[in-house]
Amino acid sequence: MITLEICIGSSCYVKGSNQVVKIVNDLLAEKNWEGKVEVKGSFCMQACQDKLGLGIKINGERIEGINLQNAKEIISNKIESLL
Ligand code: FES
Repeated sequence: MITLEICIGSSCYVKGSNQVVKIVNDLLAEKNWEGKVEVKGSFCMQACQDKLGLGIKINGERIEGINLQNAKEIISNKIESLL
C-alpha cells in the first residue's frame, strides 16, 4: 500500500490543498488505484517554509514543486513509479 499525505495546514489550505484532495481522489478513481493508495491528511510538513509548493508526501518522501496545475501529473507519475 502506498501512503499519500496531503498537508491540511493553513498555508497549504490557502494554496488549494483541499482541491488537491479532490484531484487525488479523482485520479485514484480514474486509474483504479483506490485499493493501492491510502490518502491521509497531515499537519504542516515544512514544505511551506522551505518554499517547496504544496505539502505532499508519498511513502514519506516530500514531493517538491506541486501546485494545482501540475499536481495530477506529478502525483500520478510518482505513484506509477512505485506500483
Ligand atoms: S502548511 Fe503545508 S507544509 Fe506547511
